[in-house]
Amino acid sequence: MRTEIIHTDLPSRHFEPRIYGVGAWTSHLHFAYDLVAVMRPRLLVELGVDRGESYFAFCQSAAENKAGTRCFGVDTWRGDPHAGGYDETTFAQVSSHNRVNYEAFSTLIRDDFDAAREKFEPKSIDLLHIDGLHTDAAVRHDVDSWLPKVRPGGIILLHDVDVRSRDFGVWRIWAELQERGRSWTFHDGPGLGVWQKPPALELPGFLEQLLAPPNEWNSALAKYYSARADDLQRKIAEHWRDGTIRHGPFAQQTIIQVFYTEDGAHCEENSVFARIGHEGWKEVRIELPPGAAASPLRIDFVTALTTIDVTSIRLAKAGSTYFSAPEETGFDTIRLGGDVERLAHPTDLRLKITGIDPQLYLPVVALPSSEGPLVLQMRLRVSANQ
Ligand SMILES: C[S@@+](CC[C@H](N)C(=O)[O-])C[C@H]1O[C@@H](n2cnc3c(N)ncnc32)[C@H](O)[C@@H]1O
Repeated sequence: MRTEIIHTDLPSRHFEPRIYGVGAWTSHLHFAYDLVAVMRPRLLVELGVDRGESYFAFCQSAAENKAGTRCFGVDTWRGDPHAGGYDETTFAQVSSHNRVNYEAFSTLIRDDFDAAREKFEPKSIDLLHIDGLHTDAAVRHDVDSWLPKVRPGGIILLHDVDVRSRDFGVWRIWAELQERGRSWTFHDGPGLGVWQKPPALELPGFLEQLLAPPNEWNSALAKYYSARADDLQRKIAEHWRDGTIRHGPFAQQTIIQVFYTEDGAHCEENSVFARIGHEGWKEVRIELPPGAAASPLRIDFVTALTTIDVTSIRLAKAGSTYFSAPEETGFDTIRLGGDVERLAHPTDLRLKITGIDPQLYLPVVALPSSEGPLVLQMRLRVSANQ
């Protein structure tokens, strides 16, 4: 019965996000939409916009629900060690989407969070979303330095509160915050914390029920949002099956993820990545951590059924080259795995991406134990694959 009431009442029941599936925020887009629609914040600030998956859900809600919200998205748009590095394509696409759809009330601030903070009055922000670098020190700094800018009774969202891998530390700061004010945690995807800065002023609509101690309402709300997240994931899977993935926002960029290993086993923990836009030839330089071994190095592309032309791949450490194709070995020593086929081409390694998990394996390379990072350089071009 509770679920039925939620289904008929929440503004997000008709929400069709313009941007989804391009980041780690897909699970929470419907909640973001309802939060803005019901809270009607006067001032909303997001720290960490990247491709705008979360930010544009807030903006879309502010526009469609005429919430009267002033939105600010802050980012250097250069990436960080967790988000990976990315090129200028991201900022170009985000600022164009903002200009076309939300210019009247949304401003992008291309700056460091610390520098941007000066632009906001103390106790002025109604809704603050913190989603920058996810180390303990970075999140602690972002929370401590921005908390005075949030009005008493305002809301802070913290993303990635459930991630315990790599050096993510949001969960620790989240545990501490929960001791200091009312909160709710969504456990879909990497987890989202919703926290009210004391005092516990009454919140409008479903938000008051959400932040109440666990009850049938907030668990029904959590189920409702999990179901919306599942709907979106099904929609994304369908886009891959029918090929329409080629035409959405996801198709504008490609992620290159490099897995390094000593023992042939490849895992997310031992990988780094970079992201590129799709216009023209790109020189990509990916730095692997000191001590990274290439036994062998695996390169994955996260890309929408594209064709990728690679003209060179080079692996270097401390000024010496340890692998170089095509000059030294040709591309034939590179093995393909997963969703990729090699197409004929007189000089390039031409790759047709056929699904979600294409992989290239370089030959095993013995590296010196000398200091300094291992650097992978590639020259490539990604094109739509018709
Ligand atoms: C996890 S991503 C944001 C994801 C985004 N909210 C989404 O919905 O996909 C983190 C972003 O924070 C930015 N960032 C990290 N630390 C920063 C800092 N101190 N100042 C400005 N931007 C920063 C990075 O450039 C990156 O784009």
